[in-house]
Amino acid sequence: MKIYLIGYMGCGKSTIGKKVADLMGISFIDMDKYIEERNFKSVPEIFSEEGELSFREKEQTALLELSAFEDVVIGTGGGSPCFFDNIDVMNRNGVTVYIAPDSEVLASRLIKSKTVRPLIAGKSKQELILFIEEALKERILYYEKAQIIIRGENNLDPQLVIDKIAQLS
Ligand code: S3P
Repeated sequence: MKIYLIGYMGCGKSTIGKKVADLMGISFIDMDKYIEERNFKSVPEIFSEEGELSFREKEQTALLELSAFEDVVIGTGGGSPCFFDNIDVMNRNGVTVYIAPDSEVLASRLIKSKTVRPLIAGKSKQELILFIEEALKERILYYEKAQIIIRGENNLDPQLVIDKIAQLS
């Protein structure tokens, strides 16, 4: 089984993804880390040296490569379902789970996070909330194509994700 976790930056794809993968006894792959290893550059370096479009192309390539893997939980980049036909690729190849905490929760986590995220660098919490809400207006169309949607959970229980996946079949 292949599971794609999707959702905005800070929604907890990596944290929850690792726990789900452990419980299921399969591997977890973080798409951003995969892109960094394949391209020998960090995500911020790709953005600043080559621009966002180049990053999105690398992201699409990574998605296609990772979609050939079996039995894996993939923590996707926050923008990945919203470019090209990526969300359709994910839906065709596995189970998609959209994790959707409230914008306030996303902003608090992103403020505390040590990960450098070029799209939101230097924003205050209040600016972040507004930025997230604007971005979600566009991204929601793609995110909501997920087969499973989990809203408003602050401390998401990995078992809940597994139960919802089991209910699908
Ligand atoms: C992005 C999200 C990031 C990373 C890049 C762009 C986005 O991933 O792919 O900085 O467009 O939302 P995370 O969601 O893992 O932070």
